[in-house]
Amino acid sequence: MFSDLPFMKSYCCTFLFILFSIICRSQDLIRPGEVWPDTEGKHINAHGGSIINFKGTWYWFGESRLPRTETDRTNYGVGCYSSRDLITWKNEGLALRVINDTANLLQPGCVIERPKVIFNRKTRKFVMWFHHELKGLGYKAAMTGVAVSDNITGPYKYLRSLRPNAGTWPVNFTDEQKVYPVKDGDLKSWTDEWKLAVKDGLFVRRDFEGGQMARDMTLFVDKNGKAYHVHSAEENMTLHFSELTDDYLDFTGKYYRVLPGESNEAPALFFARGKYFMFTSGTTGWNPNPGRIAVADKITGEWKSLGNPCRGTEEENKITFGSQSTFVLPLNQEKNIFVYMGDRWTPRNLADSRHIWLPVKWEDGMPVIRWQSELNINNLK
Ligand code: GAL
Repeated sequence: MFSDLPFMKSYCCTFLFILFSIICRSQDLIRPGEVWPDTEGKHINAHGGSIINFKGTWYWFGESRLPRTETDRTNYGVGCYSSRDLITWKNEGLALRVINDTANLLQPGCVIERPKVIFNRKTRKFVMWFHHELKGLGYKAAMTGVAVSDNITGPYKYLRSLRPNAGTWPVNFTDEQKVYPVKDGDLKSWTDEWKLAVKDGLFVRRDFEGGQMARDMTLFVDKNGKAYHVHSAEENMTLHFSELTDDYLDFTGKYYRVLPGESNEAPALFFARGKYFMFTSGTTGWNPNPGRIAVADKITGEWKSLGNPCRGTEEENKITFGSQSTFVLPLNQEKNIFVYMGDRWTPRNLADSRHIWLPVKWEDGMPVIRWQSELNINNLK
């Protein structure tokens, strides 16, 4: 019996080695739609987010939603996680936190969505913009907030919230559109004439004095360092591409209407193969809808819709694999390797919403996405 011992030992070693390799390998994979534990074993609470690389480390910013068990509403804001490999993420805590003061717009009870962070090379500061809804007003305020920090992980100093571009017309707005006679309230919503009037700038004129609406949003820094704040405006009917000042802390007043009247939300932009691309969704709240992809030669347009980028079953395409776009991660710009990042929202417990990361593939020059239950982020082509 004891003569079997060396054999048993080597058998056990081989078994342990295989088990160990399986565990190691499985940790190299991202599993869209599953719980994604951080280094403390908790699901990554960074939704509607974005990622930037700074000095070789990745930083993921997103909505840190209050878990259902959390009663302290001051524990709310923008979460930040760091990683060297995009797989293992360390919670760096709240980069921006609500301010416990009822005189402050950023007080507990307000809503912070889709935060994005960019680095300003001139000022060496990190700038965060986010969709900001005020306490007790539902989604009426439609504002955007800005915060700044010397350190990437924060704490970010909240500067202010506003509706952009008050008192200025879009660059691509005609003189006729500025004086078009139809006013908000003249027409019944969703009739053909109303849709036409919206396309012709009904809400731009309505919001001219107070500033344009800013709900779902993203930031995009162009090759020349100019940054754009891209936001759903005009009651979510039209996207506005609003130029930011050189320090990225304000609007210059120069803005462009993009895909007027086409109801786009969840914009996620990237530059590839000499063109600008943008994933968006339709406007169905937390419920997923058919994704969309648009293309342009210049960031300011003309933007052209290319249709639905999903390449799955009919059912999957109708709901973008159960996701809504939030960001495109440029993994390797030279080799054209990009990852689509989306949210699979769980409205009754937003903290538990799942992350849907899928490689961006190409089909006749058009970016497309296919479902993958596992993603080897280090081996994308
Ligand atoms: C979605 C939007 C989300 C959130 C949600 C609220 O359309 O993309 O960021 O605002 O509506 O219902």
